[in-house]
Amino acid sequence: MALRHGALSLVLLAVVLVVRVESGKNWALIVAGSKDYYNYFSQAVSCHAYHTMRNNSIPPENIVHMAYDDLAHDPENPVQGNIVNVPEGPNLYPGCKMDYRKKEVTPEVFLKVLTGDKEGVKKLIGREGKVVDSGPDDHVFVTMVDHGGPGVFYFPDFVELHNTDLNNALKQMHRENRYKEMVLYVDSCNSGSMFEGILPKNINIYSTTCANTHESGYMCCWDEFRLSFVGTQYGNAWVYDTDKANLHKKTLYQQYEVMKKACNVSGSVSHPQQYGNLSMNSQVLAQYQSKAEGYQPGVCLNTLEADNTLGSKFTFAGIDLNNPAIDMVPIATVARRLIESRDLSGEKREELKAELRHMMLVKEKAESLTKDLVKAAMSSPRGLTEIDILTGKERVFNSECYKAALGLFSARCPGINMGRYPFARRNLQAFINLCNHQRQTDVMNAIMEVTEKYGICRAL
Ligand SMILES: *[C@@H]1O[C@H](CO)[C@@H](O)[C@H](O)[C@H]1NC(C)=O
Ligand SMILES: *[C@@H]1O[C@H](CO)[C@@H](O)[C@H](O)[C@H]1NC(C)=O
Ligand SMILES: *[C@@H]1O[C@H](CO)[C@@H](O)[C@H](O)[C@H]1NC(C)=O
Repeated sequence: MALRHGALSLVLLAVVLVVRVESGKNWALIVAGSKDYYNYFSQAVSCHAYHTMRNNSIPPENIVHMAYDDLAHDPENPVQGNIVNVPEGPNLYPGCKMDYRKKEVTPEVFLKVLTGDKEGVKKLIGREGKVVDSGPDDHVFVTMVDHGGPGVFYFPDFVELHNTDLNNALKQMHRENRYKEMVLYVDSCNSGSMFEGILPKNINIYSTTCANTHESGYMCCWDEFRLSFVGTQYGNAWVYDTDKANLHKKTLYQQYEVMKKACNVSGSVSHPQQYGNLSMNSQVLAQYQSKAEGYQPGVCLNTLEADNTLGSKFTFAGIDLNNPAIDMVPIATVARRLIESRDLSGEKREELKAELRHMMLVKEKAESLTKDLVKAAMSSPRGLTEIDILTGKERVFNSECYKAALGLFSARCPGINMGRYPFARRNLQAFINLCNHQRQTDVMNAIMEVTEKYGICRAL
């Protein structure tokens, strides 16, 4: 009898746990890390996420949105003042409030906003700015969409947020009791590397990422009128899922399964991951993506989802032109414009061809430069071979060295600007591996030596 009673209350407890949305405030921090028209997807997905949070009754004062805001009025945008995240979708720009724009969208400002440091924000940008001003009973939802690289997430102009700095900020928030529980969704290449082996499992934080530590995320939604990829597989998947679902029933885990499925299309497959406290999986989405009072399931049914089942194979230089990797987006965009736009003038066509040729050259040179760099830095090898360094998929163990190496490389080699040429970031894994095994001075000297030799470093 006692046993039966016990089992029954366990069942009841489970039911209560699943449907209960706790009190306290909800906060959302939404980040688009890109600028420039070919990175259309980033602000498109962030604006959709902003509307979704608003429609789910999270009050505007509890949402912070960081986005460069150059997209809606970019001269290349054929519909001025308009942003969609699927072809023919509704205009997401009106009402898409951005709290930090242009030069204010930096990793430093982001970290101050996240940790609720109003003074710190003011010091950085010279004005008061909205922060995640959360307390011990509050739930925080963070979503970020842009390019990434191993151990880094990018902000405009190839300025990187390092995984160590993000995780230190999260740990600080935990120490300072700035949240009850927190969820992060990160949509960028190598996004798993922002958390794997670093995010503690015991600080009530759960995250999902669109990719594991060493693979790309993927785009969706080529818009043949806007001549851009306007969404991502992972980003579009969760925002539409949230718009349609009953957030009081659907769990974090169920949404993660939706993203996994959306990222598994014909050939361009990434593997969404989960990190942190996985017991949070059973919580309902409403806990993070809506405010309990006022939210009504299905009211904000926004509908036009991407058709992700585009059939036939369509590639350029091995790059999938239906669902290119996020870091291949500039190449894929120019290739599609060239292939598909029949009414281009001869001059425009030559211009696009030259642009494409230059990008392919940068890609090739970045690869050979990296090989030479590894060779130069390994003149006195400390246990590993060049091949180990070039193929290893290690985590960042020496963050100081990696930061210094990236800084020196971008100063010495503006011609391979990894903001403009995100595909060149694939080589950064070798920088991490070198920093893990060689002396920092050897790595820095090798960068000096090799960038000097490559003319492309000075070609702008
Ligand atoms: C993980 O989260 C669950 C549910 O929120 C909580 O009960 C548990 O204590 C957490 N585990 C750790 C190790 O913090
Ligand atoms: C991806 O989809 C294929 C075919 O639908 C399926 O067989 C496979 O198990 C899926 N992979 C993952 C990781 O979900
Ligand atoms: C938000 O709600 C409005 C009004 O119901 C609707 O038109 C719009 O599509 C919704 N936005 C999203 C992103 O669901």
